[in-house]
Amino acid sequence: MNFKVMTAAILSASLTSLVSSNVIASDSTQSNIAEARGLVKQFGGQLKPALKKAMKSGGPAVAVGFCHSKAPEIAKVVAEKSGWDINRVSLKTRGGTAKPDAWETQVLNRFNKRKAAGEAVKTMEFSEVIHEDGKSTFRYMKAIGTAQICLTCHGTNVAEPVKQAIAKYYPQDNAMGFKKGDIRGAFSFAKVEK
Ligand code: HEC
Repeated sequence: MNFKVMTAAILSASLTSLVSSNVIASDSTQSNIAEARGLVKQFGGQLKPALKKAMKSGGPAVAVGFCHSKAPEIAKVVAEKSGWDINRVSLKTRGGTAKPDAWETQVLNRFNKRKAAGEAVKTMEFSEVIHEDGKSTFRYMKAIGTAQICLTCHGTNVAEPVKQAIAKYYPQDNAMGFKKGDIRGAFSFAKVEK
């Protein structure tokens, strides 16, 4: 078990310590984390190259339309194949499904605190088993950093044609003003345990 996994596991265990006594991550937690990491690779691994290609061939204003249709589509396919809920969330949202729930908001706020304390965004993740309404749900989040290419559509100085393309699909857009290295949001995955 590497240190980060252990840290996440201990953090997560401490949050649920009132109801559970397993301070050390169980085998099922370990395999859920491994599965979730694989899904990050599948989802992010399809999204980013496809985005780059769309930017290259059509330019950023056209790529906005691509993100609008493709990002939810890729998420849907990964969800159907895996049986997990697959989403991306943010404290400053653009897409219709990106609004975080209470648990996700708390994790996103903690990600920002962890970054401020010097932790690398690239490997930042958190997981917890939630017991609610008689079922257990494994929830996993992984921070998404802001790279240079992301600033074209999420930065502080988005070009006018790109702004217009974004406003067309997202009149309520709140996902600009990010700087390189900021936490843009997070992958958020969930699986109901049998
Ligand atoms: C061409 C413009 C464009 C670029 C470049 C771009 N995005 Fe986005 N981004 C969008 C659009 C459009 C959406 C909304 C997608 C939807 O409707 O689900 C979005 C949504 C997101 C979301 C989901 C949360 C939310 O607020 O909807 C995250 C996270 C995100 N982008 C991160 C990134 C990162 C990281 C990069 C750089 C690797 C990036 N984006 C580059 C246009 C862009």
